Amino acid sequence: MKKILLSAVFAVPFLMNAQITLISEDFESYSDGDVLTDVGGDNGWREWGADFGSASAGYSSLASSAYAANGSMSGRSVSNETVDSDGIFAWNNINAGQYMIKMNLYVPEGSAGGYIGIGDNMMDINETYSSMYYIISGDTLLLVSDGAAYIAQAPLTPGAWDAVDLMVDLDANTSDIMVNGVSVGTGTAGNGNMAINGLGAFDLWGTGINVFADPVEYNPGEFFYDDLEVVDIGCSAIMISNHGGRQLDGSRSPFDQVKAISDAVGDKLEIILDGGVRRGTHVLKALAAGAKACSFGKMFLFSLAAGGQEGVEKLLQNMHDEIDRNMVLMGCKNLKELNSSKLVYRNRG
Ligand SMILES: Cc1cc2nc3c(=O)[nH]c(=O)nc-3n(C[C@H](O)[C@H](O)[C@H](O)COP(=O)(O)O)c2cc1C
Repeated sequence: MKKILLSAVFAVPFLMNAQITLISEDFESYSDGDVLTDVGGDNGWREWGADFGSASAGYSSLASSAYAANGSMSGRSVSNETVDSDGIFAWNNINAGQYMIKMNLYVPEGSAGGYIGIGDNMMDINETYSSMYYIISGDTLLLVSDGAAYIAQAPLTPGAWDAVDLMVDLDANTSDIMVNGVSVGTGTAGNGNMAINGLGAFDLWGTGINVFADPVEYNPGEFFYDDLEVVDIGCSAIMISNHGGRQLDGSRSPFDQVKAISDAVGDKLEIILDGGVRRGTHVLKALAAGAKACSFGKMFLFSLAAGGQEGVEKLLQNMHDEIDRNMVLMGCKNLKELNSSKLVYRNRG
């Protein structure tokens, strides 16, 4: 009998919100007074003067033990009347997605603070270096929009460490400030379009000017930062599931969706097939159709019910053996050779 499939596409895609840490710096590898600059390789601290075109040297941040957050060291950005301190961490540019720049921030009482700039990794070119920038002004962190209006601001605690998360959405060209876990506002990029300029660096810069003082008042600017992290919070995988067929009997199976979804997303997202996997050949078919991995539910439960832990171990061994043996029979030496050329679809008329 010909099976009649309901036309509803019920393979619900679950977005896997995988967080990937791109940059992590806790400063413990430095000694007090080390200059954060000229680290070898593509990713690392850069000195404004030496690495970004300007002849004037001396624009680097220092490692400091003055106000250690969780260990013995932090980064320090300071300015006095003659020299600004400008610690730039640069890496390969990113132009799409959502990222969280996380750090602990310490602004000593009486400090004017400084700037946190986020931009591409060609920091001095065309002055587009800060797609988005934030002013640390004593007891306030401000997100600055184009035209220098403050579109969001958050209270800081002078003389103590605050946890600051700067959410950067390159696709929407917006940023959200979170201080100590509380979101204080979102705004559109400050100094250019983030999707164009991208995210390839952040720039931690002490300033001598207290932006809130009127008339503008000179005030030595310094702040400290620790536990810096840049986290990719965008989606990296999609799970195709019909919840084991428990919701809508007769819906198309997740396997039947894999090839179309794989063709649509290319290598931008990994696909995990969920539902109906009982044999090694099911896994091989799913991988050949474009899935990266499979998951299963009832198969564990059946084995557990039949044989307890031993039953589940036997199931995993069977699965392993079947995958191994059937790859040999198919003439596939590795997973890369498991592609759609290995699948022949029956004419379903
Ligand atoms: C007893 C049982 C309860 C389940 N409960 C849920 C649930 O509450 N929510 C959900 O999204 N999926 C649920 N599932 C579906 C599983 O998460 C999984 O998608 C499914 O079991 C995979 O298909 P398979 O059993 O054919 O391997 C359940 C599955 C079983 C067997």
